[in-house]
This record gives sequence, C-alpha cells and structure tokens, in this order.
Amino acid sequence: MDRVRVGIIGCGNISSSYLTNARKFPILEVMTLADLDVERAKARAREFSVPKACSVAELLADETIEIVINLTIPAVHAEVALQCIAAGKHVISEKPLAVTREDGKKVLAAAKKAKLRVGGAPDTFLGAGHQLARKLLDDGAIGRPVAATAYMMSHGHESWHPDPEFYYKPGGGPMFDMGPYYITDLLQILGPARRVSGIASIAIPERTITSKPKHGTKIKVETPDHVTGNIEFENGCIATVITSFATWYGQYYSPITIFGTEGTLMVPDPNGFDGEVKVWRNDKHQGKEFQPVPFVHRLGYGRSVGAADMAYAIRSGRPHRASGEQAYATLDIMEGFLDASRTGKNHVVKAKYDRPAPLPPGLAEGVLDE
Ligand SMILES: NC(=O)c1ccc[n+]([C@@H]2O[C@H](COP(=O)([O-])OP(=O)(O)OC[C@H]3O[C@@H](n4cnc5c(N)ncnc54)[C@H](O)[C@@H]3O)[C@@H](O)[C@H]2O)c1
Repeated sequence: MDRVRVGIIGCGNISSSYLTNARKFPILEVMTLADLDVERAKARAREFSVPKACSVAELLADETIEIVINLTIPAVHAEVALQCIAAGKHVISEKPLAVTREDGKKVLAAAKKAKLRVGGAPDTFLGAGHQLARKLLDDGAIGRPVAATAYMMSHGHESWHPDPEFYYKPGGGPMFDMGPYYITDLLQILGPARRVSGIASIAIPERTITSKPKHGTKIKVETPDHVTGNIEFENGCIATVITSFATWYGQYYSPITIFGTEGTLMVPDPNGFDGEVKVWRNDKHQGKEFQPVPFVHRLGYGRSVGAADMAYAIRSGRPHRASGEQAYATLDIMEGFLDASRTGKNHVVKAKYDRPAPLPPGLAEGVLDE
C-alpha cells in the first residue's frame, strides 16, 4: 500500500508524542513540520529526523502532503483546519475540534464540500483497553447498559503548568480540557446521545499559581471549574459525568464505569490507550472482586493511531474512525452541559453520530486493516 505523506502544523509539547508514535505506522510518512515559530518546527525536525521544517504557508502549498495533523492550540484549531481544507488536504486536529459549535460546523461543512476528510482527537479510544470495553459491551458481557459514570476529578493545573491561566478562561475549564477523552469514549462504547443535562459552578473563583515562572500570580476564574451533568443515550443508558478542577484527586473512583442489567464494566482511564478492563457479573462473581479481562487487541498504540487509521481509510476508501462527526458530537455534548447549566433546560442533541467500526482484534504490528 502506498504510504501517505503527512505534515504537522503546531510543534509544541504534544508534537513529540505524535512524532514518536507515528514511527510505529509505516503507512505514515511524516515529511514536513510547520509552526508560527519556524525555529520550533526546525528543532523538532532535527530531533525526529523529519526532512523539512517551514512556514505554515509553505507546508500548505506542498501538493505532495495528503494529511495535516493539526497540533495547534484549541483557539485556532478550526481556523487551521479550514486553511488545510482550502489547500486540498485532509486534516486531523487535536481536541477539541473547535471551541464553538459554529466553528466546528464550518469545518465539517468545508470538508464535505471539498470531498476531504476531517478527523479529531482523542484517538485513545482506539487503544486495547477501550476497544476491549466496547467489545465486551457489544458481546453482552454486562447485559443491557443502564447507567454509566465518568469522573475526572482534579485540582487544576496551576501547581505544575508554566502558564496555566487559559485553563480558567472561556474555552478552558475541566470539560473542554479533559472532557473530550471521557465523552468520546462514552460515545464509542454506548453510541449516540439523545439529551444532556448539566449544572456547573465556579467553585474556586481565584487561583494562585504555584508553578514557575509565574509563582504567586493570581488567576480570576471566568469559566466553570466544576462541571457536572447527565447524558441520556439513544440506547436508554444514562451517564453521570463530573469533570472538576476544584477537587483533590483521589484513587477511590474508576474513570469510567458502565452498569448493565447483568453486571458492571470498569473502563480504564480514557486519557491512555491500554489500561486494564475489569468485569463483575451477577451470575458468576457474587462475593468476589471485579475480574480483569485479558486483552485481545494490539497493545502499544499512542497518539497518531487516529491519523494512521485515516491514512488506511484514504487508501482503501473506508470511513476513518476518529471522525470529525465524532469530534463534533463530543463538542456538542460538552457545550450542552454548560448550556443546560445556564438555561436550566436539557440540551437536545441534534448532531448525527454513528459509532466508528470497532478495530479488529489481533491486528499485526503497525497495520490497521486486516
Ligand atoms: N500537552 C499535552 O499534554 C496535550 C495532551 C493532549 C492533547 N493536547 C492538545 O494538543 C494541542 C497542542 O497542545 P500543546 O501542549 O502541544 O500546546 P503548545 O502551546 O505547547 O504548542 C502549540 C504550538 O502551536 C503553535 N501555533 C499556535 N497557533 C498556530 C497557528 N495559527 N499556526 C501554526 N502554529 C500555531 C504554537 O506556536 C505552538 O508551538 C492542544 O489542542 C491540546 O489540547 C495537549
């Protein structure tokens, strides 16, 4: 199969993870890196032996690049994705797809018109832990899903992040920062959502940075730092979601748990790929602990697997899994929690969403099609 030539726009923190993991997929040929700061792109290109580093305009003018991986900051994800589409390239963006529904819709519409593909992070749901959780649910291991919980409880980022202010401004907050991992995984396991309720608060209105170099600087919190709500799925399951920057982290909860009519499924942290999956069944495990379930999918994927899947999909003409529609459905639900909190009314989900095809168990190393 012909390799797919890839460019990356945005060479900050997370780019090293993408560049490391892209090497595991021979279909991806990372040719060019670009950033507003070209020196940053050059440094990454040297570090990872990428042939070229240049301006965004130069990358977009290169007709041999088929897919752009957009690793810029959330505020410009949509703008950069639209530039890529205008330049005739498929694009897969880091999360979130956009910071407003309007911008997310513009990206999907532009790609549809140009007959190009749009994808969105996270791609952690393609990890062995999350694919196994979905397979167990689909195979009826816990019966019909009735309830789910998804908890991301933390105290925020001002103790370690060098410049944490943006986490507490509109477009930030725990839901937009971490929600994409949890909501995407719930969608791929449980399917499309019907409606969303929500209550959110600014629980700690002022933060003090304790990391360097801004130690001692105060932050005024201008977006909810504690966001809670429920999602009703079309299959009838109701998920209760909490994302918080206002609580102290504890190990007492499971990141995602699905409760069914026959048992319960513990899903690993959706900010990772391969965590352990555990099941407890009413007919087998009375008086016993949750039982770990052996993996059946390939272990060891990292950020880039979504782009590799898009590359295979382009070559074979099948749908790609980390789709723009999935990223948009996630964005719509995340906004839905905040809208519902503001208005006191449920947000009715209108975005069309189909679960992506599951990954087949037992794939060979570095390939995503059998
Ligand atoms: N850092 C992490 O651990 C992490 C983890 C998962 C996902 N993400 C996501 O990855 C994305 C990038 O995060 P990061 O931590 O690498 O950020 P970063 O600030 O370290 O890097 C972003 C880069 O994008 C460049 N950039 C900004 N606007 C641009 C534009 N218009 N055109 C070209 N380049 C532009 C910046 O110069 C910078 O080099 C974010 O969406 C974030 O949510 C980050």
